[in-house]
Amino acid sequence: MLKNFWWPLEFSHVVEEKPIRVTALEQEFVIYRTSNGTANVMSDLCVHRGGALSDGWMEGDCVVCPYHGWEFKPDGACSKIPAQPDLNVPKKARVDAYPTIERYGYIWAFLGDLPESERPPFPELPHFDDPKFRTIRGTYEWPVYYERAFENSLDAAHAPFVHGGAFGNRENPAIPDYQVTEYPLGGEMVVTLEPPKRNIPGIWKRLYKDDRPDVKTRAAFWMPCMTLLEVTLPMGLMVLFNFHIPVNEFKTITKWTQMRTFFKGKWADGDALKRVMKIFDQDYPIVVAQRPELLPYDIGAELSVKSDGIQIAYRKMRQKYIDMGWQIDIHRIKTEIGREEAVVIPSPARKGIPELEKAWVLKEVPTTAPKKKE
Ligand SMILES: [Fe+2]
Repeated sequence: MLKNFWWPLEFSHVVEEKPIRVTALEQEFVIYRTSNGTANVMSDLCVHRGGALSDGWMEGDCVVCPYHGWEFKPDGACSKIPAQPDLNVPKKARVDAYPTIERYGYIWAFLGDLPESERPPFPELPHFDDPKFRTIRGTYEWPVYYERAFENSLDAAHAPFVHGGAFGNRENPAIPDYQVTEYPLGGEMVVTLEPPKRNIPGIWKRLYKDDRPDVKTRAAFWMPCMTLLEVTLPMGLMVLFNFHIPVNEFKTITKWTQMRTFFKGKWADGDALKRVMKIFDQDYPIVVAQRPELLPYDIGAELSVKSDGIQIAYRKMRQKYIDMGWQIDIHRIKTEIGREEAVVIPSPARKGIPELEKAWVLKEVPTTAPKKKE
């Protein structure tokens, strides 16, 4: 898992004024809206006694911790300690607040402590702002590390075998040679694939005249967790964005958006949903069974071939950011009584204030596991 990227944490439509909890990257976040509708993401950990702010409520534009009523402003600063009304609130009484952007139907947080000028840019994603699409959204949960699900979404060569009953063609499983076009934060490949020669199932057959023509297929990714599959069908474009959000090392929630330029009535949404779910359900047993569970760091550790080019492009890009020190260590810390300690990704406001740099968290995200006491 990488810090210092814009992570899509939740769908916009899920978040209202009432604070909610979202678990991602082994952290707990609280997401809420202030009175003008602006979405905010903070660490869900009251700095006082570790209460969950997501169980609290709003008082004006402040989140109130349900345990002792401490109030926190959207920038993370504590503004009120009810038990000590005369106390000047100490500077270090803050929770980590993350820069938040709402776009493409998702709420994104910059999870890291880089100042604005050093951050990777917010990803420019195609299609989302185009009104010619009909859009549906949903989630898919799998007990896998997110990078396995991520690479699966980019992998054209598995379609004939895993999706042979849908769009894959086992008679012609060859992937034409392609070049990966790199973006600043990702890359894409475009290939033309021959669809299976059998009949079209379901309502799509209404839109097909005779044979199934070849299908232009584009697969793309953006750091840290987003993929796009775009297929040009005779009746229009079908687009599937998968945002693979790691809950922890062993669980991923894919928050997906499917868009289509045909059958744009609400009546066809159920059919579109069924098609997305069928693809995920076909991928599920394969990805769950992959070993090792984590994506190898050494590119030579698995045998890759030319048609895996886009996955290799991802692994190389990931390595670049690991080398920059952006990887979050995900080994769970166990205390002596076996409980995990709370960890928090440092937010930008901590940078450059030595007094505060370490002070506001129970524990920083560790880079190595602590030594066991003798
Ligand atoms: Fe698949």
